[in-house]
Amino acid sequence: MSYETLIVETNEGVTLIRLNRPQALNALSSELWTDLTDALNAAEADDAVRCVVITGSAKAFAAGADIKEMQPKSYADMFGENFFAAGAARIESFRKPIIAAVAGYALGGGCELAMLCDFIICADNAKFGQPEINLGVAPGIGGTQRLTRFVGKSKAMEMILTGRMMDAAEAERAGLVSRVVPLDDLENEAMTAAKKIASLSPLSVMMNKEMVEAAYETTLTQGVKLERRLFHSLFAFDDQKEGMAAFVEKRKPDFKGR
Ligand code: CAA
Repeated sequence: MSYETLIVETNEGVTLIRLNRPQALNALSSELWTDLTDALNAAEADDAVRCVVITGSAKAFAAGADIKEMQPKSYADMFGENFFAAGAARIESFRKPIIAAVAGYALGGGCELAMLCDFIICADNAKFGQPEINLGVAPGIGGTQRLTRFVGKSKAMEMILTGRMMDAAEAERAGLVSRVVPLDDLENEAMTAAKKIASLSPLSVMMNKEMVEAAYETTLTQGVKLERRLFHSLFAFDDQKEGMAAFVEKRKPDFKGR
């Protein structure tokens, strides 16, 4: 499948989605959201796909929602279309892991798209920010909520109220990204992590993802209980037998996703 705003390829169980609107620094237009939703639907439906990587260019992961598209819109348009809701919901309900590989600008909706992913690996030239305040608006794809959970109230407030950008080192210190790598290694590092995930039991991977997600949605007691129940349930899968047998027999496991 080919797209106007994305380049998508699947290899060794990993779908790599490259945002491709270089003329607009990968600004997230409605067309891009539709393409991204289609590409994720295809990745979700394909059993051979075990992990997704979303990336951009060396200059920009994405410089935000498309300001030129939004500029003439009215409140009735935005509310009526439930602007951004469908695209964000597609990622929020995606069951396989999604890694954001971020180089350059991840601003506004670009920062929010990265935070919607399961983890962020960034290049040393990455810049994160929620500069919507400069446009007289506010984040609209979860930025005020997710950035605050990632980096805490003080830093999130400062960034959202002033539009200040965070560089890669600060993003790593603040816990926004899992790690920083040299720009030239970014795609390789993200693909290596994705291929490792793709080699594991897909059922176990999905359950592990659900468990970590629950940490944001539940109390500690409820979250720990959910974790224990899901952990117990993993013993219903052949992959648990295979994974533990392979360890005991000192061989590589052959997970079947059963
Ligand atoms: N939407 C539409 N077009 C954009 C864009 C955006 N978010 N960001 C950049 N572009 C376009 C520019 O208009 C420019 O196009 P033209 O050549 O046709 O003029 C092209 O991309 C290159 O951009 P610049 O010339 O500005 O590049 P630069 O290197 O000088 O600056 C930048 C880079 C600092 C990222 C600057 O482009 C910028 O500030 N962009 C806007 C960032 C922003 O405000 N993002 C938030 C958007 S609102 C949002 O995302 C709402 C939400 O939460 C959902």
